[in-house]
Amino acid sequence: TYVVIENCIACKYTDCVEVCPVDCFYEGENMLVIHPDECIDCGVCEPECPADAIRPDTEPDMEEWVAFNRKYAVQWPVIVTKKDPLPGYEERDGEPGKLEKYFS
Ligand code: SF4
Ligand code: F3S
Repeated sequence: TYVVIENCIACKYTDCVEVCPVDCFYEGENMLVIHPDECIDCGVCEPECPADAIRPDTEPDMEEWVAFNRKYAVQWPVIVTKKDPLPGYEERDGEPGKLEKYFS
């Protein structure tokens, strides 16, 4: 599966949702997640993210992010249409510690 990681937080560009063939992105207040059991591993979303926040779970140390994505995918509504990124997204793209600072 692919999953969304920390740098999505407080940016939420949403370019990713338009390309997913199975509509498995889910929207929280300040980030998206992928439902790991619905993702078919096609990989087309990964290069679409301007924040480089989508990764395959084959990368090292991704277990926590897979669990994180699974947890919120079942709580949040599906998103299939691109919208404007969050205010201040340019300054926050790449900022460290976003999970503690901004996730809610
Ligand atoms: Fe959707 Fe493919 Fe990305 Fe999985 S890898 S979330 S199926 S676009
Ligand atoms: Fe987030 Fe990147 Fe999609 S910032 S909303 S994973 S395009």
